[in-house]
Amino acid sequence: MSIRVASLRHIYHPGTPLETKALSGVDLTVDPGKWVAVVGQTGSGKSTLAQHLNALLLPTSGSVEVDGISTTAAASALRMVRRKVGLVFQYPEHQLFAESVLEEMAFGPRNWKFNEEDIRETTIRTMKLLGLPEELLPRSPFQLSGGQKRRLCIASVLAVRPDYLVLDEPTAGMDAPGRRELLGLLKGLVKERIGVVHITHDLELALAMAEQILVLEKGKTVFCGTPGSLMDELIERPIRGLCLPPILELVSGLRDYGYNVPFTLDAVELADRLEKEMRT
Ligand SMILES: Nc1ncnc2c1ncn2[C@@H]1O[C@H](COP(=O)(O)OP(=O)(O)OP(=O)(O)O)[C@@H](O)[C@H]1O
Ligand SMILES: [Mg+2]
Repeated sequence: MSIRVASLRHIYHPGTPLETKALSGVDLTVDPGKWVAVVGQTGSGKSTLAQHLNALLLPTSGSVEVDGISTTAAASALRMVRRKVGLVFQYPEHQLFAESVLEEMAFGPRNWKFNEEDIRETTIRTMKLLGLPEELLPRSPFQLSGGQKRRLCIASVLAVRPDYLVLDEPTAGMDAPGRRELLGLLKGLVKERIGVVHITHDLELALAMAEQILVLEKGKTVFCGTPGSLMDELIERPIRGLCLPPILELVSGLRDYGYNVPFTLDAVELADRLEKEMRT
């Protein structure tokens, strides 16, 4: 069971003057309990890919399957895909629509016919998980702060207990403690066997958190593999639009000077190794 994307192409407005090739042959597998990051420059096709994973967009060619169900299947099967894959939009304003936080949280579970008692309990529990106080329940989602809106988007998607969670730039606009909390929460979900697809501009974050990283450039895959192999690749030759995180630049420079230090994102580990190297 997994999400399988094969030779995915997507063209917006085909055959019109606005025709745009957004994805040109992308392959990806997301297994339950795995954290996959998708990185790439602006306009590289990340959000277009995200929207294919829960059938909001359909392939121009190629395929997307969720636990064996094609996103081009009949409407009833498509409902299953949407139930399985929760998508948190890049811009909260594109996702939020209800008149109150309570309605926003209850919409998905009602759609999936959870009973009302269950909805109340799930709403409170999920909001707590995302650090949203109960006092917000009667408020309009549009009156929340930027960070609260983002948390509400994630909470409302989690409330229907999806098997896979696709988050498009979830940490944008969050402060450092908020980001740490969210990443911790996502780690917990991965432990519970949820498959996480994390779309981010932040390569350092992707290298630190993901088990697999897909790099897109102009709708094409330029790399797909483990963080370790991406680090090796970036040190050998740059990938357009991806800058080596500063700590890896430092490691690379130290190695050029003959210090045997590891490629690591962990500053404490690097300092320890460097100290040992300097003593020898
Ligand atoms: N609704 C649309 N209609 C037409 N073209 C679109 C549409 N959405 C995206 N595109 C185009 O498709 C390409 C990929 O866009 P996409 O939004 O997937 O990129 P992205 O990697 O998510 O960018 P960003 O990092 O800025 O969010 C771009 O050339 C974009 O202009
Ligand atoms: Mg995007």
